[in-house]
Amino acid sequence: MPAARLEVERLAAGYGSVSILSDISFAVPAGGRLTVLGRNGVGKTTLLASLMGLTTHKGGAVRLGDRDVTGLRTFARAAAGLGYVPQTRDVFRSLTVEENLFTGLKGRPRTELESVYAMFPRLAERRNHGGMQLSGGEQQMLSLARTLLGKPQVLLLDEPLEGLAPVICDQLMETIVKLAQSGEMTVVLVEQQIERALDFADDVMVIERGRIVWQGQGAQLRADRELVDSLLGVGIG
Ligand SMILES: Nc1ncnc2c1ncn2[C@@H]1O[C@H](COP(=O)(O)OP(=O)(O)O)[C@@H](O)[C@H]1O
Ligand SMILES: [Mg+2]
Repeated sequence: MPAARLEVERLAAGYGSVSILSDISFAVPAGGRLTVLGRNGVGKTTLLASLMGLTTHKGGAVRLGDRDVTGLRTFARAAAGLGYVPQTRDVFRSLTVEENLFTGLKGRPRTELESVYAMFPRLAERRNHGGMQLSGGEQQMLSLARTLLGKPQVLLLDEPLEGLAPVICDQLMETIVKLAQSGEMTVVLVEQQIERALDFADDVMVIERGRIVWQGQGAQLRADRELVDSLLGVGIG
């Protein structure tokens, strides 16, 4: 499946009776990249989870290409082409690397594992290791690799670099950029490391208390420390 356009219109969502997100509207063209920034606790994870149908819907629409997926359950959204790598890294600790990957195949031939082993040689080396034995970086690779096996049209990444050593961050970002550049996937990246986030995508969106407070080009943010400070409360670089 080729990359698809992601369009979110006036999305509102929360948990039960609690509202977290309101009036969220944005679009990412097919094969495009978007970076989502914001301080801790502003709703970044809730946004990605809401795109997957994992929160309480309170209004608005999510469209994947021509298809309105708003009414679909999580598994159906995944089948429709949304791939999600959660901040918690979905690794089954009792299973080996390869067994974890099997769960992402969903009936596709085992030979497809070779494509992700080629992308992540480290996982190939550790294919018989248990999920529990993996480093944070390896767990992140595994979580990402398993999602990629589902051949998503839109890939949602929630702070993939969190807690990883800088050299591992470099390697992982390189892989993510390659994926995005292939044009086979539309990618939405939530990231706290501003420099890396801005390197990843030109289109940037900043969330504050469940709302979009800034949308624009990363270059603008890079050039305006005061703006970054006011939006994110941290300096760049
Ligand atoms: N399962 C949940 N139930 C209720 N509130 C939640 C839940 N998960 C997160 N929240 C709340 O939603 C808000 C946004 O959290 P989150 O989306 O995780 O922020 P971020 O990813 O930007 O750090 C926070 O106030 C958080 O406490
Ligand atoms: Mg989060």
